[in-house]
Amino acid sequence: MEIEHLHPALVHYPIAFLLAAALFDLMAIAAKRDYLHRAALLLLIFGVLGAAAAVITGTVAKAEALEIPGLGRYVRRHEIFGLYTLIVSGVVLLIRIGLEASRRVRGLAAALAFFLSAVCAAFGLVTGHLGGSITREHGPELRGLID
Ligand code: HEM
Repeated sequence: MEIEHLHPALVHYPIAFLLAAALFDLMAIAAKRDYLHRAALLLLIFGVLGAAAAVITGTVAKAEALEIPGLGRYVRRHEIFGLYTLIVSGVVLLIRIGLEASRRVRGLAAALAFFLSAVCAAFGLVTGHLGGSITREHGPELRGLID
C-alpha cells in the first residue's frame, strides 16, 4: 500500500472510537456505573491517537489531492475540521483525565463528561463526512484510476 493511501485505511478508527466514547458515557449515566466512564476515557485516548494518525496521514494524502483541479477548497475545509477534531479531542481528554482523578464521575460531572465526548464525536463525524465527500466525488482520480 502506498503511503498516500494510508489515510482512507485508518480514518474510520478515530471516528468509531470517538463515537463509542460518547455512547459509553451515555450508558454510564443511564446505568449509573462509573466503570463505563473509565471505558469511555480509554476509548477517548484511542480516538485522540487515531485522530493524530489521521492528521499525519491526511497531510501526506493532501499533496496528491491538491493536484486535482478544483479540489483544493474541499480538501482545506476537511483539513481544518480534521485539525479541530484533534485539538478539541486532545483538550477534552486532558479535562476528562482531571475529572477522573479528582472524584467519582456522577451527577453534573457525568453530564459534563458526556457533553464533552459528544462534542468530540460530532467533530469526528463532520470531519469524516467532509473527507467522504472528497472521495465520493473524486475517488477514481485520487486512486489513479483516471487522470
Ligand atoms: C490535517 C488533517 C487532514 C487532512 C489534510 C486530510 C486530507 C484528506 C484527503 C486529501 C482525503 C481524500 C483523499 C484520500 O482518500 O486519501 C481525505 C479523506 C478522508 N478523511 Fe481526511 N484529512 C485530515 C484529517 C482527517 C481526520 C482527523 C479524519 C477523521 C476524524 C479524516 C477522515 C477522512 C475520511 C473519512 C476520508 C474519506 C476516506 C474514504 O472515503 O475512503 N481526515 N482526507
